[in-house]
This record gives sequence, structure tokens and C-alpha cells, in this order.
Amino acid sequence: MLCTSQGNQGNRNLLLLFVTLAAWETGSGQVHYSVSEEAKHGTFVGRIAQDLGLELAELVPRLFRIASKGRGDFLEVNLQNGILFVNSRIDREELCGRRAECSIHLEVIVDRPLQVFHVEVEVKDINDNRPVFSTSEQKLSILESQPLDSRFPLEGASDADIGENAILTYGLSSNEFFTLDIINKKDKGKLPVLVLSKLLDREENPQLRLLLTATDEGKPELTGSVTLLILVLDANDNAPVFDQTVYEVKMYENSANQTLVIWLNASDADEGINKEVIYSFSSLVPSTIRRKFLINERTGEVRINDAIDFEDSNTYEIHVDVTDKGNLPMVGHCTILVEILDENDNSPVVVVTSLALPVREDAQVGTVISLISVSDRDSGANGQVTCSLTPESPFKLVSTFKNYYSLVLDSVLDRESMANYEVVVTARDGGLPSLSATASVSVEVADVNDNAPAFAQHEYTVFVKENNPPGCHIFTVSARDADAQENALVSYSLVERVNGKIDFEETKLWKLQIEAVDKGNPPMFGHCTVLIEVLDVNDNAPELLVTSLLLSIPEDAPLGTVITLISVTDRDIGSNAQVTCSLTPRVPFKLVSTFKNYYSLVLDSSLDREKVSEYALALIAKDGGSPSLSTSASVSVEVADVNDNAPTFAQPEYTVFVKENNPPGCHIFTVLLVLTLLLYTALRCSAPPSEGACGPVKPRLVCSSAVENWSFSRERRQRVCSGEGPPKTDLMVFSPSVPPGLNSGDIGDQQEFCENVSTVILGCIMPINVNHIVVHQQIKSIA
Ligand SMILES: *[C@@H]1O[C@H](CO)[C@@H](O)[C@H](O)[C@H]1NC(C)=O
Ligand SMILES: *[C@@H]1O[C@H](CO)[C@@H](O)[C@H](O)[C@H]1NC(C)=O
Ligand SMILES: *[C@@H]1O[C@H](CO)[C@@H](O)[C@H](O)[C@H]1NC(C)=O
Ligand SMILES: *[C@@H]1O[C@H](CO)[C@@H](O)[C@H](O)[C@H]1NC(C)=O
Repeated sequence: MLCTSQGNQGNRNLLLLFVTLAAWETGSGQVHYSVSEEAKHGTFVGRIAQDLGLELAELVPRLFRIASKGRGDFLEVNLQNGILFVNSRIDREELCGRRAECSIHLEVIVDRPLQVFHVEVEVKDINDNRPVFSTSEQKLSILESQPLDSRFPLEGASDADIGENAILTYGLSSNEFFTLDIINKKDKGKLPVLVLSKLLDREENPQLRLLLTATDEGKPELTGSVTLLILVLDANDNAPVFDQTVYEVKMYENSANQTLVIWLNASDADEGINKEVIYSFSSLVPSTIRRKFLINERTGEVRINDAIDFEDSNTYEIHVDVTDKGNLPMVGHCTILVEILDENDNSPVVVVTSLALPVREDAQVGTVISLISVSDRDSGANGQVTCSLTPESPFKLVSTFKNYYSLVLDSVLDRESMANYEVVVTARDGGLPSLSATASVSVEVADVNDNAPAFAQHEYTVFVKENNPPGCHIFTVSARDADAQENALVSYSLVERVNGKIDFEETKLWKLQIEAVDKGNPPMFGHCTVLIEVLDVNDNAPELLVTSLLLSIPEDAPLGTVITLISVTDRDIGSNAQVTCSLTPRVPFKLVSTFKNYYSLVLDSSLDREKVSEYALALIAKDGGSPSLSTSASVSVEVADVNDNAPTFAQPEYTVFVKENNPPGCHIFTVLLVLTLLLYTALRCSAPPSEGACGPVKPRLVCSSAVENWSFSRERRQRVCSGEGPPKTDLMVFSPSVPPGLNSGDIGDQQEFCENVSTVILGCIMPINVNHIVVHQQIKSIA
């Protein structure tokens, strides 16, 4: 309670006021009262009349009145008892605001005489105002990243009261993040300040509600409060995260372009821009993977962007970063393991390595011809390959190792029946549907000289006229060789060289052995026989052989006397050898054909030496060839006187021994003169004794005096002996015609000369006399 004195009497007045609650002062003296604000109507303030020294009775007459300076009628005086009382509600705060001193100045006026008194009524404060905050809620935005002890001044409360009633203390609802600090301001009381005592985390507590209370010190104390709404502002303190660190994805190869591999969703606990994320491949991801996959940086979809081939790579490891857009961006990571599943998209591959081509036709069964390897880039059943061989061939496939095969000879080859094989190796995988590949192997069979040259016939018979000039073409043989190239090149040769001219009279049959040989190594041979039968040409004139039996003929010789024996021969055959003989002059002789090609010059008419003592005869032999050839001979016949002495031989009988097996050309015996010959031969058949029934034959030539006519026949005999052996030809058969009654003793029915009797007696044998055989001709041996 303050009393202020305007004069030097202040101390006394103050004392007085305390004692009397009234101040009396005439003139300029002042009276002080005090009243609490908000006092009820009628509340006693002071005995104003008394304190001003006025009599109660004079109040009304003197027109006692209060002239307030525009302050309404807070106070009123009861004119009856002179008491100042509260007329209407006095609000100190309304009246004085926050001034520490607040009083109502009353001007009291009385008339007669006019007196003016000043009365100060102090309005005393009561704690009628609670502390008040300007708003009911204070918002604060605080970055979650604010460091500890950050300070955030708050708006303090105000209290309309004064003094203790206006002295505020602040309190904060309990919380873990903030404490309250009070700043005492010199002028304006206290200022509450929030101090961060624990780090904020927007993600945990995006906002806090605290209650700030202000309490005054009035009695009773009043409290005001305000809600502190603390918005925790986001700081980019959270990295985006994936819900898994590793994602495993399986997908088939050859998936369509833009197929979704995975849709990544990263989350970021921050908010706003700090929550916005961008997906990208990590810098670790090589360019090969970047080409294959595409990531949508906004949505996180990972799609295929290129052909995916299991055979290139069957797993992909894709590292993905997710980055938020915060000021200091934060990054999250994940890995996508993409496992590629195989599809049967690769055909098997067949590789043929030919080893032994061409294959020799004599190659052994089991010979490896080609190596075949198959492969398939697929895996599992898609990559399991089986091989087969078509068509039927003398080959087979042998599996040597997984996916390795050998083409092996399975049966014997023969180039001459099949020189080339085309086989196809088919490789088929186990996929569904399966894929296959083929490779053809051309197997050429190499020739081996396994075929001899062969003639169409084993034996050829050729007829060739004799007297061919050397170099003359006779016949062509050819041999075929089934082999190839060198092995089929055939050359020909005679096994034995044959020299000589083709002369029918020399050799009628040539037997040529022809050999054909190929150029193989070793060579092979073929043979054939060419039988050349020589055909006769009339190249031989007839030969005349005149054997004069008588040097002279007695003039009384009987008709029919044989004077000369003539034999004609022609070395040709057939008509070329058909010789006819003619004689000139024709009388008195004639030619009598005694046997084929044998003639006798016979006396045909009687002679008369006295008329003609000598005849010169010409003999002409002419063959039947065309043109025919002829030979002539002259014979002279002397006519002799009759004579009674016969010529005699030194011996009545000659025996000549001739050894068998005389070589051709051997000279046996020569008779120079007329002689009687009993030729006994001991020539024997040389056929080997083993030839059974053919015992040793003793062909004998027996001349007998009893024989009148001799005939020679030349005929072909097929067999002499019953044994085997080549046919005997050109046997001379000597067939004497024996007159009946004669002792035929030694004379066989038929005497035979075996083939090997190389001696042929050629001559004319004429019985001259009984017991004599006269031989007029040299015994010739003919090869
Ligand atoms: C990501 O979200 C999309 C859309 O909601 C969804 O289809 C996909 O399966 C999610 N991805 C993962 C890996 O959960
Ligand atoms: C896949 O599609 C993308 C976008 O359409 C294109 O750029 C790319 O060349 C395609 N890849 C292939 C292998 O077709
Ligand atoms: C001998 O030959 C002649 C004349 O050809 C003939 O008349 C006679 O009968 C023959 N003699 C014998 C014994 O055959
Ligand atoms: C004939 O005799 C000759 C020589 O004496 C001999 O070489 C040949 O083999 C004989 N021929 C026959 C058919 O016996």
C-alpha cells in the first residue's frame, strides 16, 4: 500500500491515514483510500465526509458531490452517513492495465463555500487473472536432426495481474525430449525456452504434444497452459531399404523382350523428397548385364531388354541401388539372383573327323573310319544326345565315350560291288520336342588288287590260214579286271615264246598260253589258251616219187608187168592234196592207180625192142588246189633183150635190227642196191606198261614172198591201246592182202605202228620173185 504525499507533510499524513483511514486536509489536502478491485457493490471504502472534515448534516445542503474524471461511477458516497462505497465493478486491469499503481482520482466538490477536495482511491490488485498464453496451441517445427541442447524460445504467458499475482513460474509436461529453461528478462519477466535433451526421430515420433503451464504466485495461485505442438521435421536420415537383401528369380531363357523379371519395392522411412527413390543398377553391374536388363528407375520394375540365352550364362547377379532424393541422398542395396532355366533351343552339333578315308577294301572289321563327336549346348535332357546311323551299311557307330563315337567297319568291304557309301549320322537330343542334326559321311572304298584279270573264255579256237606274214593280226583277246586304276591296267604276254612261221605243213595247231597281268602290287594274273588251227593253203606242189623197178624191160614181158612205182604226195590237204597223175605218151604203158596216190606204170601193150628200144615218158602230177600246182618227172624205159639169168643177191636173206626209240631224224638203214629184204622190226609200242590192257605190242612188218599185192592205207586211228592217253594219230597201217592158202605164219592180220614209231617206211615194195621182196628205195625217216 503506497501513499504518496505531494507536500512536505507526507509522513504525517501517511501516519494519519493509517490510523484513521482518512486524511483531512483543507484546501489542497488529499485523502487516500484503497479498495480491492472487484469489490462488491456497497463495499465500504472510507468515511469520506468525516475524513474531509465535513459535517454529515451539511453534506446535502452543500451539494456534496464527486466529480470523477471521466471514470464513471465506480464509487459512490452515501450522503446519509458520508461513506464512500463501491458502486460498480472496478477492474484494476481494465482501469490501469499493467501499471503498478492504479488509483481512482475523485474530485469532491462542496458548495457554500465552494471547496474542492481530491481523493485518491487506490485500487488494490487481487489475483483475479490467470496467466494467459496468446494462443491455445503453440506450433514448433523442429528438424529431427537438431543437435542436443538446441534451444527453442517459447512465447511466455502473460498475467494481467501485477505483483506477485503476476509473477509466473513455468512448468512443462513430462517428456523425454525437452527440458525447460527460463530466461529472466530484465524488463519483462521470464521467458521459457525448450532445450533438446534427447535426439528426435521423426520416424518414431513425428510430432510431440507438450503442455506448458504458467503459474502465478497469487493466493490462490492461478495457472494457465498452452499446448506445444512440436512437429518433428524430417531429415534424410533413412536410407531406402528393400525388404530382402537378395531376391531369387527363376525364368526361362528366350523370354520375350520386356518380360518382367522382378518388381522391386524399396521403402524409405523418411518423408517427402527424402522418401522419393530412384532405382538404378549398382556401379558394380557390368555393362553386359546392363545390356540384358532394364530397370525402371521410377517404379523399380526390372525387365528383360535383350535376348537371354541359357547357353551364354545361366545366372545373373544384378546389384541394384536405390537412392532417395534427399539433400544428402541415402542409398539402399539389394541383389537379384536371376537363374535362367534351360529350354531345348539348341540343336545338337555333329563333328565328323575322318581318319582313314578312303578305306581300303581289305580293311579289317573294326577299323575306325571316322571319329564323331556330338555336342548340345543345352543342359539336362535337352543336352543328352543319342546318335544313329542310316542307311544300312557295313559300318556301325561305336560309342567310345560320352558323346564320342567311332564309325567302325562292321563287315567286309568289296569295292567291286560298292565303291562308295554315303552314311548319315543323326544326333538327337532328349528335349521335348527333341532337336536333331545330321552329318553325312562319304566313305570311299579304296581299291585293293584283289581281282585277277579274267578272260571271257578259258580257251579260244582261232582258224588262221598259213603263210601269214609276220605282224599279221590273227586274233584279239582281252581280259577284264574288276579293280580300279593301276590294279585294272592289264598287260598281256605269251607264256612261252613261239617262234616260227605259221605253216600248215609244219604245225597244224598252235597252243598259245596267254597271260594277262595287272599293274597292282602285288600283281594278279589271268590266263587263257588260244588254239590256233592252221588252215591249209595250196602252197605245196605235188611231189612225185618214181621208183623204177626195172632198169630195162624185156621185150617179151607180159602185159601188166609193173615197170615203175609212182607215188605222189602233196603236203597240203584236202583238194590241195588231191593229186591226179597223167602220162605221155600213153602207149605202150599206162598208169594204174593201185591205192590212193600210188600208181604203177604198167605195160599195156606188147613191146618190140627192134621197133622201139627206149621210151622217154613224162609224168605230170597235178593237185586240185586253186590254182593248182603241178610237178613233172621223166621216166625212161629201156626195152631189153630177153634174158635167162635172173639177178641174184649175195644173201638170200638180210636181217636188219633197228633199235626202238630212235630220235626223229635218225638214220636207220640204207640200201644202196637192190636187195631182198626181210624186214623184221622189233619196234614196240612205247605206251607205258602200266596202261593196263595195252600190253607191249610187237608191231611187225613182214614181207612174204607169197604176197602179191600190198596195199597201204593211211588212216586215223583213235586208239591203239585201251588205256588212257592222248589219241594216237597218223598211224601207218600196213595191210597186206594175203592170197589164201599161203602160210601166213608170221604175218599178222594187221600190223600196227605205235605213235612213237618215228620211222615210217615209205616206199614201194614189189614182189619180184618168190621168196624175195625187193626194196627199191631208201628207207626214209620222217620226223
Ligand atoms: C512391388 O509392388 C508391386 C505393386 O504393388 C507388386 O506387384 C510386386 O509384387 C512388389 N514386389 C515385391 C518384390 O514384393
Ligand atoms: C527390347 O526392347 C527394347 C525396348 O523396346 C529395345 O530397345 C531393345 O532393342 C529390344 N531388344 C531386342 C533384343 O529386341
Ligand atoms: C593182185 O592184184 C591184181 C591186180 O589188181 C589182181 O587181179 C589179183 O587178184 C591180186 N591178187 C591177190 C592175191 O589179191
Ligand atoms: C615218244 O618218244 C619220245 C622220245 O623218245 C618221247 O619224248 C615221247 O614222250 C614219246 N611219246 C609217247 C606218246 O609216248
